[in-house]
Amino acid sequence: MSAVKIADNVYWVGVKDRDLRVFDIIMPTRYGTTYNAYLVKGEKVALIDTVKKGFTEEYLANIEEITPLSAIDYLVVNHTEPDHSGSIIELLKRAPNIQIVCALAAKIFVQNVLNSDNNLTGLKDNAFIELGGKTLTIKLTPYMHWPDTMMEYLAEDKVLFSGDGFAAHYAGDAIYGDELPGEIDLDHEVHYYFDTIMRPFTSHIRKNLVKLEELDIKMVAPSHGPLFRNQANRYINMYKDCSVDKAEGKNQVAIFYASSYGNTKIIAERISTNLNRAGFLTPVNDITACDKMKARELIEESKAVIIGTPTFNGDAVKPVWDFVNLFSTVDAKGKKAATFGSYGWSGEGTKLVSDRLAGMKIKVMPEPFRAKLVPSEKELSEVDRFSGEIANFINEG
Ligand code: FEO
Repeated sequence: MSAVKIADNVYWVGVKDRDLRVFDIIMPTRYGTTYNAYLVKGEKVALIDTVKKGFTEEYLANIEEITPLSAIDYLVVNHTEPDHSGSIIELLKRAPNIQIVCALAAKIFVQNVLNSDNNLTGLKDNAFIELGGKTLTIKLTPYMHWPDTMMEYLAEDKVLFSGDGFAAHYAGDAIYGDELPGEIDLDHEVHYYFDTIMRPFTSHIRKNLVKLEELDIKMVAPSHGPLFRNQANRYINMYKDCSVDKAEGKNQVAIFYASSYGNTKIIAERISTNLNRAGFLTPVNDITACDKMKARELIEESKAVIIGTPTFNGDAVKPVWDFVNLFSTVDAKGKKAATFGSYGWSGEGTKLVSDRLAGMKIKVMPEPFRAKLVPSEKELSEVDRFSGEIANFINEG
């Protein structure tokens, strides 16, 4: 597809990967995706982002429809993931005098792509790239999607080049969101992108969105999928809604367990009763019956998550591991956790789960609680003590 003019002396020069069916190993993409790049021409010329390796020739040809590569002054690197940085090396081979600008935090990433720091400048928040007649203002937006990430605001045309922010995976013929065929639910696609790519970083996104509030944005130009000209703020507002702190003001501790014979369940319910008496909301969920989406919500809404697993063959059971893996799909850093379970003869499952959670930067109670097979009255008294320790652990901040 050829270059497309999107504003006065501003062009889309990206490519369409229509056949892509899985993005980043984890994300099915039934409509393919685009790798969007943009050219901004003032007295100087800035190129915003490159494209995935394999699409380099098409990308360079799109640029050359507008300007010779030798006329480009700056390459603005919004994000160094290879879907956007994969053509930098070839671009620099053909136009070696280009100055690369990126977020200060991205310098090391770009150096690792180029294995050089020649012509490379790291920028701070609110830095300007003056092109003469066009000015790009830098907005550092870490973790949208990597720590390296930034956006630019082009004041003359009120365009926000938003990188992965507000993106969607769609590679049809349309350039703008308002041109999509009726059967495409763009709200769903933008939300799906947020849910899969952005959701683990919601606390960062909340801070980043505040930086955009001062901008008069008429067009959002992301790095994947359609551009938004009539709905510029619709998806910024969607991100605001999706990134609220769901645990704020909610004194909730979610309890999840798996239990073959009801023994781990007895402990779960005892902990729930105790913590409820201590003033916490304590939803109790059987992991094997709990919908994955609901489980993610409950993790986000809770100050702490208490996980029960039996031990089979020296390990926690697979549904528990599947549940624990959900922690990396939401913004769970800083949450607290504890583990418990009934066991027969070895009982390693609880400690293995605790160790995995600690590796994911969850604050975990040092010692799990374990009971042998059917919890005795004495062991239930120990559950009461353990519950008190959980309450103290949560309340100590
Ligand atoms: Fe589109 Fe995070 O790369």
